[in-house]
Amino acid sequence: MKTASPFLELEKGPRVNVIFDGVALSLPQGTNLAAALLAAGVDVFRDTPVSGAPRGPFCMMGACFDCLIEIEGITRQACMIEVTGGLEITRAHRDEALA
Ligand code: FES
Repeated sequence: MKTASPFLELEKGPRVNVIFDGVALSLPQGTNLAAALLAAGVDVFRDTPVSGAPRGPFCMMGACFDCLIEIEGITRQACMIEVTGGLEITRAHRDEALA
């Protein structure tokens, strides 16, 4: 059952393994991916393509696009995705940012 806050359901249920930028993480299955990554200590989800400035989730409702990540080469909003086992996630625009 979904709750009002994506953070309230993080301690419940089984955990699954995902890969984030080559690092294995155990996240709670079926929870909000952005909330689960934040709870796991990931605070930079992408770099801006122009300046390379770090960005992380802000609105948690699909409006700000600061939570963009790449899953299997497709850029997606982490706050709009549920955690499922086997996700291979990378930071969006990491290779495109200007140094
Ligand atoms: S946190 Fe704003 S769109 Fe995902």
